[in-house]
Amino acid sequence: MTDKKRKILVTSALPYANGPIHIGHLVEYIQTDIWVRFQKMRGHECHYVCADDAHGTPIMLRARQEGITPEQLIERVSKEHQADFAGFAIDFDHYHSTHSDENRELSALIYQRNRDAGHIRERTISQLYDPQEQMFLPDRFIKGACPKCGAEDQYGDSCENCGATYAPTELKNPQSAVSGATPVEKDSLHYFFKLADFEPMLKEWTCGGHLQAEVSNKLHEWFEAGLREWDISRDAPYFGFPIPDSDNKFFYVWMDAPVGYMASFKYYCEHSDDVDFDSFWKSDSEAELYHFIGKDIIYFHALFWPAMLHGAHFRKPDAIFAHGFLTVDGKKMSKSRGTFIKASSWLQHLNPEALRYYFAAKLGAGVDDIDLNLDDFVARINSDLVGKVVNIASRCAGFIKKRFDNRLANYLDEPDLFNDFVLTGEAIADDYEAREFGHALRKIMALADKANQYIDDRKPWVIAKQEDSDEQLHAVCSMGINLFRLLIGYLRPVLPQTALASEKFMNIHPLYWNALPQPLLGHEINKFKPLMTRVESKQVEAMLEDSKESLQANDSAPAKIDATDSILQTDPIADSISFDDFAKLDLRIARIVDAKTVEGADKLLQLTLDIGGETRNVFAGIKAAYEPHTLVGKLTVMVANLAPRKMRFGLSEGMLLAAGPGGKDLWILNPDEGAQPGMRVK
Ligand code: 2FM
Ligand code: ZN
Repeated sequence: MTDKKRKILVTSALPYANGPIHIGHLVEYIQTDIWVRFQKMRGHECHYVCADDAHGTPIMLRARQEGITPEQLIERVSKEHQADFAGFAIDFDHYHSTHSDENRELSALIYQRNRDAGHIRERTISQLYDPQEQMFLPDRFIKGACPKCGAEDQYGDSCENCGATYAPTELKNPQSAVSGATPVEKDSLHYFFKLADFEPMLKEWTCGGHLQAEVSNKLHEWFEAGLREWDISRDAPYFGFPIPDSDNKFFYVWMDAPVGYMASFKYYCEHSDDVDFDSFWKSDSEAELYHFIGKDIIYFHALFWPAMLHGAHFRKPDAIFAHGFLTVDGKKMSKSRGTFIKASSWLQHLNPEALRYYFAAKLGAGVDDIDLNLDDFVARINSDLVGKVVNIASRCAGFIKKRFDNRLANYLDEPDLFNDFVLTGEAIADDYEAREFGHALRKIMALADKANQYIDDRKPWVIAKQEDSDEQLHAVCSMGINLFRLLIGYLRPVLPQTALASEKFMNIHPLYWNALPQPLLGHEINKFKPLMTRVESKQVEAMLEDSKESLQANDSAPAKIDATDSILQTDPIADSISFDDFAKLDLRIARIVDAKTVEGADKLLQLTLDIGGETRNVFAGIKAAYEPHTLVGKLTVMVANLAPRKMRFGLSEGMLLAAGPGGKDLWILNPDEGAQPGMRVK
């Protein structure tokens, strides 16, 4: 390694504190974590901080809906998020909250410095106000007909039908998504950040190598469109920080969110002996600063954030690394297909390192979307990790134990092959540094092929049966373990847990990059334990099934949070259907003629339903609420025209209607006894 020791601060975008982490989020945390682990392995001083993004209207309303305070909500969600991240070995040096003293102070400081330099303007604006809830409504909490094309049920900022963008006040027949009331226009004083003051600086900065080429191009378009003032204030009620010297105004969540990067690092510095906050954030800092983000939040990070920092005399980021979105089997993640997979669901069924590996194999330095193809995932993990890498150790370890008392030979059988592996290490390091993880893994797998070829050529299992073959067998198996050690070293940023278990097996210290070229000679290793097991398709199927089930159990998954404002998870208008949609439902009276438990399913009962001469097989998530035998003979209501759905346990041909919060508290609908199976429900 030739680099001098670098000081690096790295962040991932802060997840909102009102919903679970899902595999779409994990693309970014896994990408960042791999990069950080690589930097640490190279011996650099690298710090990785993050936090929950805890403010804003959706969080305030979500807490209200749950009957708890926002503070209680964000505390609970923070624990859930951190457990999910730990499950995927995302190794933050510190995880904070934007609702913290450090963030309150830094947000106020950045605001005051910008204000005192003349970059904040006060202006009265007219906005839609919910007279029932007595609150101003963010754009996404207003629905109505598009002013351009007339399409119903459009949000207050843009039309999904014709693509038009407009002010919420332009919507026809607007309705509050919070209360359903008709909003009224009301004046209010707001605070605006004068982004255009920073145009010359931003034009230079955005062309200064801090952004990916495709992002820079996008920024040119935004410059051409003109840099507009940014409204950084919100009226009460709002869950956020009060704006200093204002009359009950709060910072808009996107104002204090990026400051959360600094706040998290500040807390971390204050609780560590040797990391100095100012040396990372002063305007002439020599430390490096990188933000990993999704491509949907570039505007905030590449324009507002550098401008706010500049106006407050702090340093700007060295680079913003944007990535694309995740699709599953080529489509957007979908709750009904079960591909909206929560981190916790993945952890129940599959090895987290398998996802880390798969994402890494697909990730490059650009902003292209990446696809998780589930069949390809199973094949690739089994072929690459289980079949090629881990297999090398298991092929050699047994002989070393049985025949050589767990001690490796004190020379390398093929030094040239070992050197070839060492030399490729620098190209692999270059790929990691450039975030070309897919390229790095291809090089590593090419080396794994060579290692397997070496073992296949030498055939230790044949040597072992020959007389006087000890020395040869020892040399070949020791060489195999040494090649395995290099492969695991190169994979360590991607597979930290497998690397740890491998280090234990090889009885070595955590592998640093510059230690890799020294082979293990005459060294005693430990007993080999399987390092990774095959992925089975049925595990993937079970995970998809559970993701569908958890939706049926009313386990709401988060809606996509919009970059400019956020949408309520259970937005009553967003979730409503038209009368025509309703009329499509074929609701029928059904008699339950049989009910039984389903082997291997925690929540399901298998029901046979008679709908008047026709029987249907339906799996219903009501096991916690009913003993099967108590259901037999009962009448209930079912959706008879739901497309049959293939589940792990068989085909489900409809949906039972039940009411209640779930679990034990769930009641199937019991029509009047005068009803007859097959009758339509009106
Ligand atoms: O888009 C989001 O999910 C935001 N919570 C990201 C914030 S990143 C940073 F600016 F805080
Ligand atoms: Zn329209």
